[in-house]
Amino acid sequence: MKKVLLILIASIFIILSGCQKKADVIKIGIAGPMTGDQAKMGTDFKNGISLAVEEWNVKDGVLGKKIKVIVSDDQHDPKQAVSVANKMVNDGVVGVIGHFNSSCSIPASDVYNRAEIPMITPASTNPQLTEKGYKGVFRVCGRDDQQGKVASDFIINYLKLKGVAILHDKTTYGQGLADEFKKFLGDKVKVVYYGGIVQGDKDFKMVLTAIKDKKPELIFFGGIYPEAGLLVRQARELGLTAKFMSGDGTIDPKFIEIAGANAVEGTYLTFSPDAKNIPSAKGFIDKYQSRYGELGPYSIYTYDAINILLTAIKEASTTDGKTVINKLHSMEFSGALGKIRFDEKGDVTVAPYVVWITRAGKFEEYWKP
Ligand code: ALA
Repeated sequence: MKKVLLILIASIFIILSGCQKKADVIKIGIAGPMTGDQAKMGTDFKNGISLAVEEWNVKDGVLGKKIKVIVSDDQHDPKQAVSVANKMVNDGVVGVIGHFNSSCSIPASDVYNRAEIPMITPASTNPQLTEKGYKGVFRVCGRDDQQGKVASDFIINYLKLKGVAILHDKTTYGQGLADEFKKFLGDKVKVVYYGGIVQGDKDFKMVLTAIKDKKPELIFFGGIYPEAGLLVRQARELGLTAKFMSGDGTIDPKFIEIAGANAVEGTYLTFSPDAKNIPSAKGFIDKYQSRYGELGPYSIYTYDAINILLTAIKEASTTDGKTVINKLHSMEFSGALGKIRFDEKGDVTVAPYVVWITRAGKFEEYWKP
């Protein structure tokens, strides 16, 4: 009887430890602005991630374990970004997809670097991020020195303008992009106004009035869509008819909604070419749109970023940070965006930027350098 009881207890123990093993998961952190005025970007991130993780989890996840996503809200605040980065590391994430803003990705990358886990940002374009020499930091988007160059080429070679105003939102990204743009204009175009606004402000009429007096042919803005939308709206309200141009931080329907369809008509921005024309993106886009509606600008980048990370874990047969980071540097990945390879710094080897225009309430690809 005693023997039977022992066998029974042992069997229960084996079954329970089996269950325990099955419940084991691989945790991946996702970080971006999940609340506040940039929350749409966080939602786009989450949607792209959900589609990818679902696809992996129906096939039993990775290394035989289901993938669990830990979503963190950095509220596009650098201090909050560091705090959530530490929390995710303590929670045991084996890699992070994020952040959205360069001002968050750069300080958070110190945390991931110390923890020796990889981070792949879908959207942070400031060059400094991959100039720090951190081996585990990657991005699937381009850089603002590439983007700023294309914007300035457009002004010099296509629009052939003589005088522009430059504004930025004083963030790492916004000011960085404005400075790259200014640098590439060189002495070919006169900068009649250069200055910063405060992110989160709602009334820009004072600075726009000062700009109006300088009679620029175009206002270039380095920043994100909440402020860009208000700038365009208020510029038109003041009768400022100068052209308007911005970067990747503004390509979202929210920009058009905030500015108003009339005011925003004919404004330009730089971003990568339309994903809808990439054959390998079709499956993802169809799935995304049938579930979530219109594709967000960075959803596909987020989808590819997590697929790259999970593929590296699978190919490395481990979640060990250093080994996965080495794998990320050596592999070529075929994703929705096509083939992606990282250079030594963790930048993508190919990052084409083009100019888009807003027409009839929609963004359209407009000019290639
Ligand atoms: N490209 C923007 C940034 O780097 C979103 O902050």
